[in-house]
Amino acid sequence: MANYSIQVNGKTHEVDVMDDMPLLWVLRDLIGLTGTKFGCGKALCGACTVHLNGNAIRSCSYPVSAVKDGKITTIEGLSEKGDHPLQKAWEKHIVPQCGYCQTGQIMNAASLLNRNPTPTEAEIEQAMEGNLCRCGTYNRIRAAILEVASK
Ligand code: FES
Ligand code: FES
Repeated sequence: MANYSIQVNGKTHEVDVMDDMPLLWVLRDLIGLTGTKFGCGKALCGACTVHLNGNAIRSCSYPVSAVKDGKITTIEGLSEKGDHPLQKAWEKHIVPQCGYCQTGQIMNAASLLNRNPTPTEAEIEQAMEGNLCRCGTYNRIRAAILEVASK
């Protein structure tokens, strides 16, 4: 066991865990941030996507020991009142169906816009293709991202 001090959504949390504990477990089970979801547990679906220093990572497969002094952002910390432009566009386009994958979709889209604020449709497709949605909301996801990118 090791003691880690990790920064999540602007707050520092001390956790005493194994080096290889996935960040997702720390976020959900120890810190109580359950907005980030568990899907495959193998870095294959994107449901667990969070940001490390603004870049998307798959927290189910990211050991807490690798976070070091990086800044983690979860869906709870993406905006103060759920009013990030992507969150507003998601509402406008009524993107979610069951909703399970949508945290990961939004966090991955936010990471894309951090590095490329005006992606083309093809760039959106490429960036989002690893985030799976069993409800098939892909067209609405793309429309919502395109709307934010066009502003
Ligand atoms: S739960 Fe992490 S990628 Fe599927
Ligand atoms: S909205 Fe149901 S899995 Fe994506």
